[in-house]
Amino acid sequence: MQLPEILQSAIEERISFQSLNAISEASSELTSRYRRGPSHESYVRSEKDRLAYILSRLPATYSVICKVFSELNDRLPGFAPRSFLDLGAGPGTGLWSAKESFSSITESSAWEYDEGFIELGKKLATKDPTLARAIWSKKNFEIDRDFPEVDLALLSYSIGEIEEKFWDPFLQNLWNKVKSTLVIIEPGTPAGYKRILKIRDILLQDGAKILAPCPHSGSCPLKDPDWCHFTARVERSSLHRKVKNAALNYEDEKFSYLIFSKEQNISLFESRILRFPQIHKGHVCISLCTKSEGIIQKTITKKDKEKYKYVKKCSWGDVF
Ligand SMILES: C[S@@+](CC[C@H](N)C(=O)[O-])C[C@H]1O[C@@H](n2cnc3c(N)ncnc32)[C@H](O)[C@@H]1O
Repeated sequence: MQLPEILQSAIEERISFQSLNAISEASSELTSRYRRGPSHESYVRSEKDRLAYILSRLPATYSVICKVFSELNDRLPGFAPRSFLDLGAGPGTGLWSAKESFSSITESSAWEYDEGFIELGKKLATKDPTLARAIWSKKNFEIDRDFPEVDLALLSYSIGEIEEKFWDPFLQNLWNKVKSTLVIIEPGTPAGYKRILKIRDILLQDGAKILAPCPHSGSCPLKDPDWCHFTARVERSSLHRKVKNAALNYEDEKFSYLIFSKEQNISLFESRILRFPQIHKGHVCISLCTKSEGIIQKTITKKDKEKYKYVKKCSWGDVF
């Protein structure tokens, strides 16, 4: 997936007077900090870090959010949210993804506690007349609870940045204010998945309904060392490649996610494909997370015409 042209050029405009070497250095330090995991300091600590984020991380988080929103569209046909809240918005990645995915949104808000990101997010948004109207608030969701009532709320790569002791009251209060649907995305690492499991427990106990990725609301059948995650392909711009010293013009971003909804017209499904289907001559092998049989391996042969035709078009993360 590619960034919208206006966002790509707004990012390049921000970077244009900067030293690429310095941003490249900031980008690799930022990646190492994310790999090391939470500490008492923020991951993003300077303007260079923020610029490194919009150049090297935003394309990946944007693609992931769009992919998850596309799943939301499939599971809730006709879903047309009018109001949207992006929590831990960073430079407003979720605002851009939501605009791309739901033309119905007329009121967008962003909560973020880093003032530098708020300024940067507002500057990027000036390039789009709809997003320029988004309301940005400096909020710390460890303590602030005055959420606006919205149809759709998003926590993308952000809840993992606050201590677990705050999750319960934060999620419960947020869920009360969500009129329709809540989307939570975390990195597709074992640690990100563990956080997703904990969030899943909290919200299920609160009576929330899972829309995706799980076909059921029982406990997750995946066993250690496996973990539930998916992947999104991200196109790298030439500047992105330079900053990362990368040769390939794409990267694959792993993510774990949850969609909870209060809607009734959910499109139910039996199972979801985990991993890329293995395509062989005359048959395809898939690993499935199912509604009632846990994790199973299935082989679909050419003899089963309809299913074979369908599975050949399927990929990792699709419903089956
Ligand atoms: C990894 S960035 C994700 C940005 C954006 N959501 C995305 O997907 O690209 C995490 C963001 O959460 C923000 N954040 C972390 N803790 C927060 C808190 N307690 N209150 C508000 N924002 C917070 C950080 O400042 C940062 O901008």
